[in-house]
Amino acid sequence: RATRLWGGRFAGGPAQALAALSRSVHFDWRLAPYDVAQTGAHARVLRRAGLLSAEELGQVLDALRSLADDVRTGAVQPAPDDEDVHTAVERELLARLGPLGGKLRAGRSRNDQVATDFRLYLRTQARHIAAAVAELQDALLDQAERHAGSPAPGFTHLQHAQPVSFGHELAKHVHALARDVDRLQDWDDRAATSPLGAGALAGSSLPLDPEAAAADLGFARAAENSIDAVSDRDFVAEFLFCTAMLGVHLSRLGEEYCLWASTEFGWVRLDDAFATGSSIMPQKKNPDIAELVRGKSGRLIGNLTGLLATLKGLPFAYNRDLQEDKESVFDSVDQLLLVLPALAGMVATSTFDTDRMAAAAPLGFALATDVAEWLVRQGVAFRDAHEISGACVQECEKRGIDLPELSDADLAAISPHLTPEVRSVLSVQGALDARSALGGTAPARVREQLERLRARTRTA
Ligand code: ARG
Repeated sequence: RATRLWGGRFAGGPAQALAALSRSVHFDWRLAPYDVAQTGAHARVLRRAGLLSAEELGQVLDALRSLADDVRTGAVQPAPDDEDVHTAVERELLARLGPLGGKLRAGRSRNDQVATDFRLYLRTQARHIAAAVAELQDALLDQAERHAGSPAPGFTHLQHAQPVSFGHELAKHVHALARDVDRLQDWDDRAATSPLGAGALAGSSLPLDPEAAAADLGFARAAENSIDAVSDRDFVAEFLFCTAMLGVHLSRLGEEYCLWASTEFGWVRLDDAFATGSSIMPQKKNPDIAELVRGKSGRLIGNLTGLLATLKGLPFAYNRDLQEDKESVFDSVDQLLLVLPALAGMVATSTFDTDRMAAAAPLGFALATDVAEWLVRQGVAFRDAHEISGACVQECEKRGIDLPELSDADLAAISPHLTPEVRSVLSVQGALDARSALGGTAPARVREQLERLRARTRTA
């Protein structure tokens, strides 16, 4: 007998072309552990409904245990004519249990099954991704602690703006990643709704207990609307947003690394184990990890927009279009779990040229704001202070000198407010230390920030 789950009303088998199109087991087999777990929860519900005897339940649970082991070791594989993971699991249970294996689909449809499996799978993956993000955060925090007191140029518009602590610069990435982890945790609260019991779309005439099944599978609640339960893919789209946003953050870190590794910047030296060479140019050492990360982020965004396009205008409840919800999500999970350890290793093993960063920190008249703010402290209106400091920059540019090289007479000629004491703010270290309010780049504040970040990422 064919392993099809729906042969009864059909006079013949499916055309080869249909079977090939319809088949999903080559990708949805990764849901098998969850389909097995779900079948156990459902068997317990059937037992309480009096639809399985205690002895039957015992046999079913034994068979599920051995099946779970065989799935884990790879001893069990889908067969060529298994349509999907649900078909394959039922075929295995029939082989192990005989006709008893045919009782376990009672009250279930692949529509509530697949939605349940997929939620279980994604909730597990969200934890794996968060753990991989934590490794990257640790690597960034280690470097940030090392460089809390290292001055570097800070940019806006990719132009020198104001000096910053390089640890502050690195820590900004840890904050973005912390929000990504928060988002995955918030997502998980919403994803913790069990669709099991919704059946095809209307619930079941059998005395099932969706809330017991939900609790059994670690969900926080059962769905209140069976139609919504089988057709909702918000949890998938939202997961894909979380992963796309994370990808964008990783891409921006990657982009910074590409800049820093360039000869022009020369701020970072990559460890040989985390860089690649060229097949023609013997001297090359390329930041391929950073570039691949940047490239992958486009793919993660595409996976999100692709699913949204699939969902738009879809009639209710289940439609087979929804089978298209899985491969892109599996891809996003796989890509992130590839990228995150590589990035963490690259960051952990990087060495930074702090002398070079420090030398560059005051360039581009990056202390001009400090001159203006010194004038404000002397009672000058900021509007005027901005003009006066700007005139200093103009004079320096004209003469090819830097702000500290303006003589007392030069300063006095620009404005009577510019007494020689203004030189007290013309140091990079002073500029960093002065920005000492919460969120500022003063090394002492940065160290406190890093302690809080460390505590936050530890408890995540
Ligand atoms: N493979 C299907 C999917 O991924 C499972 C649900 C199939 N349901 C159905 N009525 N054909 O969506």
